[in-house]
Amino acid sequence: MQQKTSGPWLLPLLLSAILTNAQIPQSDNAPIQDEYDFIVIGAGSGGSVVANRLSEITNWSILLLEAGRDEIFLTEVPLTASLLSITGYNWGYKSEKLTTACLGLVGQRCNLVRGKALGGTSVVNFLLYTRGNKLDFDMWAQMGNTGWSYNDVLPYFIKSENCSSCQDIDSNFHGTNGYLNVEHPGYESPLVKLFMKSGEDLGYPNNDPNGKTALGFSRVQATMKRGRRCSASKAFLHPTADRSNLHISPRSRVTKIVIDPITKKTVGVEFIKNRRCRFVRVKKEVVVSAGSINSAQLLMLSGVGPKEHLENLGIKVIENLPVGYNFQDHMAMSAIAFLVNESVTVSDLKVQNPKDIYDFLVQGTGPYTIPGGAEALAFVKTPRASKINDDYPDMELVLGAGGLNGDVYGGFRALLGISQETFKKMYGPLVGMPSFSIAPVLLRPKSRGRVLLKDNNPLHWPLIYPNYYDREEDLATMVEGVKMAVTIARSKHFQRYNATLNPLKVPNCEHIPFESDAYWGCAVRQLSTTLGHHVGTCKMGPPDDPEAVVDPELRVYGVKNLRVVDGSIMPQIVAGHTNAVIFMIGEKASDLIKKSWQKYT
Ligand SMILES: Cc1cc2nc3c(=O)[nH]c(=O)nc-3n(C[C@H](O)[C@H](O)[C@H](O)COP(=O)(O)OP(=O)(O)OC[C@H]3O[C@@H](n4cnc5c(N)ncnc54)[C@H](O)[C@@H]3O)c2cc1C
Ligand SMILES: *[C@@H]1O[C@H](CO)[C@@H](O)[C@H](O)[C@H]1NC(C)=O
Ligand SMILES: *[C@@H]1O[C@H](CO)[C@@H](O)[C@H](O)[C@H]1NC(C)=O
Ligand SMILES: *[C@@H]1O[C@H](CO)[C@@H](O)[C@H](O)[C@H]1NC(C)=O
Ligand SMILES: *[C@@H]1O[C@H](CO)[C@@H](O)[C@H](O)[C@H]1NC(C)=O
Repeated sequence: MQQKTSGPWLLPLLLSAILTNAQIPQSDNAPIQDEYDFIVIGAGSGGSVVANRLSEITNWSILLLEAGRDEIFLTEVPLTASLLSITGYNWGYKSEKLTTACLGLVGQRCNLVRGKALGGTSVVNFLLYTRGNKLDFDMWAQMGNTGWSYNDVLPYFIKSENCSSCQDIDSNFHGTNGYLNVEHPGYESPLVKLFMKSGEDLGYPNNDPNGKTALGFSRVQATMKRGRRCSASKAFLHPTADRSNLHISPRSRVTKIVIDPITKKTVGVEFIKNRRCRFVRVKKEVVVSAGSINSAQLLMLSGVGPKEHLENLGIKVIENLPVGYNFQDHMAMSAIAFLVNESVTVSDLKVQNPKDIYDFLVQGTGPYTIPGGAEALAFVKTPRASKINDDYPDMELVLGAGGLNGDVYGGFRALLGISQETFKKMYGPLVGMPSFSIAPVLLRPKSRGRVLLKDNNPLHWPLIYPNYYDREEDLATMVEGVKMAVTIARSKHFQRYNATLNPLKVPNCEHIPFESDAYWGCAVRQLSTTLGHHVGTCKMGPPDDPEAVVDPELRVYGVKNLRVVDGSIMPQIVAGHTNAVIFMIGEKASDLIKKSWQKYT
């Protein structure tokens, strides 16, 4: 049962990491002018696309301000993505204490990872490429967001993508000319086929979830290129290196968007770089792409937000808008491990061998190319799903090539926020045993959270109340998801390896009969964690929507020359991972901006 290990190979991996790092171009092409046509705040998934597309117009000058720095070799390795949460590439946010979730995590608070880098959260994410469900976008349109139906947005998904080397895809739905490279991992464990076969037994096809139908089981598609991470920066910023009209300024933290209180016109932005405060004027527009937490924070610091809240903190109100409300996210249960009796899984120790390292460094293949350890996924319906729309999943199941007991170096534990003590109790006796996981993801949460300012200091963290499982129905659906994961692992296909649910109980739930609904409910409240899909805090909606912050062209209501372009504009979270959707939002927003300045051809 003990897995083979081949000695301390981590060191050579890190050394080669440092050497290879020298080859990645560092982009900081300051000096910075006093004035630009456009200023984009945040070089994440949304902001990188906008900076690229606007700078196609050679007559426009664009400044892209990013608080973080450039990528290094470590950020390129798909398998070890979770390690990045313990580096300076993570803003390091935690939620306030909740009574409904994250109860068994360190400090009883949820870890809310956000990328701080050129590339933003796409530098620390798990690389999975999914687009959400058709009906998500049709629902956005139905809410009054003209131009955002599935048929409207599909061309933008295709425009951004290069899926030339993908197999088993519905090619009508994919692009081959975009900047964003999408491919399958260069490795497949024997578990993938078992997972697909279990899906067939449950009546689900093997499909391309980004194609015609969503419900089904599939090998993952990932934002990577020849086995290495393809971040927003690599995809959309590196190709702009020769554009003299785009200035990219990393390590530049915006502290305020300056808006004229009388004309309500956006004048420019204040930011800190190299410990100096600076002000840059804007001629056309400021685009806020700081992500769902920071965009809300920045708007509020600038006087755009809920009147009473801002007044309480002594911030002069420019426009009274419900900024920070409507926070939505996807919770997952990654802590469920299934033991197997053969070494068919992937763990920290197992990949420390010269062959796997060579395959990755030289060929771009092997287990290091598995994105965050996720090999396959399924979009399914729990018994609680609405039966009206047939192709409308309420649950995703993600097949992980390794279970949490294989997390010897602690990267995954750190990402999730699982304490040493809990790890020891639940996985300690199983360390070194081969295992895999099937993590259910609650796709359509009803609970809503909120982001608030702690005070008026722009360098302080905001207060984040994600309110996961605030609504009992969210918990009940998640429990069904857990049971589906267990059912699949117990199917005859996985019994080929004698797959067995980790018999060790979740701490604080020991008193409840193992595997009962009540037990799983307790386990979910204790240990389920976010996938980092925070969205919704600057909601897009029509003028008569009292919750709306931006209009369907992403312009902030009541303020001139200010748009928001990132995950925060989603009126309702999509049933899938959010990165590709935010690239789409960036593509569409760029066209809207070009059109409104009449330069669009
Ligand atoms: C651990 C994890 C795993 C994930 N896995 C996946 C996955 O597998 N697939 C998927 O599709 N999605 C995944 N996601 C989600 C996805 O990556 C994000 O939804 C997406 O990248 C967010 O894009 P954004 O443009 O809204 O914000 P971001 O990409 O976060 O961009 C915001 C940028 O603004 C910068 N910024 C913020 N404040 C300031 C300021 N004041 N001044 C200057 N710059 C500032 C930030 O540093 C950042 O670079 C994951 C997320 C996490 C956390
Ligand atoms: C771009 O600028 C040049 C010179 O400044 C000018 O001749 C040209 O008309 C401009 N093009 C557009 C599309 O505005
Ligand atoms: C798309 O990817 C293919 C194969 O990886 C590559 O040959 C091609 O040049 C890429 N296209 C673009 C526009 O980058
Ligand atoms: C299957 O797993 C169970 C529980 O871990 C164990 O008792 C049993 O010996 C295993 N059987 C085989 C054939 O590995
Ligand atoms: C693992 O368990 C399965 C099912 O019990 C059994 O058929 C198989 O021989 C076992 N493998 C090993 C290596 O023990």
